[in-house]
Amino acid sequence: MPVRIALIGGTGVYDPNILSDIREEKIATPFGTAKVKTGVYRGREVAFMARHGEDHSVPPHLVNYRANIWGLRKLGVKNIFATAAVGSLNPQMGPREFVFADQFLDFTRSRPQTFVEKGVVHLDMTDPYCPELRRLLSRAAAELDLKHHVAGTYVCTEGPRFETPAEIRMFRQLGGDLVGMTSVPEVVLAREAGMCYAAIAMVTNFAAGISPTRLSHQEVVDVMAANVDNLRRLAMRTIEM
Ligand code: HPA
Repeated sequence: MPVRIALIGGTGVYDPNILSDIREEKIATPFGTAKVKTGVYRGREVAFMARHGEDHSVPPHLVNYRANIWGLRKLGVKNIFATAAVGSLNPQMGPREFVFADQFLDFTRSRPQTFVEKGVVHLDMTDPYCPELRRLLSRAAAELDLKHHVAGTYVCTEGPRFETPAEIRMFRQLGGDLVGMTSVPEVVLAREAGMCYAAIAMVTNFAAGISPTRLSHQEVVDVMAANVDNLRRLAMRTIEM
């Protein structure tokens, strides 16, 4: 059975325990090896990839995005749901709420963003995040009564440091709603590979300068952990639609 759906697990989402008959695969790509688990959910083959590794050892700027996306493409994946812990710049989008981002602003600096090494390719980015998958996510979230937002602009920073309050004010003025460190180039590469990609962003904190307290990675991990069950229910409901 071909694998058509993949779930990329971000911070706090490391194990594919919704799947049965799990097999571990190491997929050779021109950019290195991609590690994926494949398994069955409700009769469908689904791939699971831990973006930061199962032990969260790979920081956002060192993730091998090209190997990961190439590997999923090689498996036959057409649709990717990618979880992402994010900070919020938007007072309407509070901690523990889901946002199905529709746009991004790219503030990364050092990451290869294309598979193309020869010739000129300009990829349309009008809808970077797949409108159909976003609709499915919104439907599933509504059915499950999970607080969610059907659109939002994801600001991707280079990391691994968090932002300064001045940066956050600038991002807000530019129209950003969320800030995170991984959606670019993941979404760009998925689009280049002809796949549909949707981000399941979960707000873990208000961003620096908005939050009354200093940020820590532990806070992000703790809020994710407290909500991972909702994330799992949302992913399961969406995949079975
Ligand atoms: N900034 C960047 N990335 C994040 C944040 C943040 O505030 N929260 C979770 N991931």
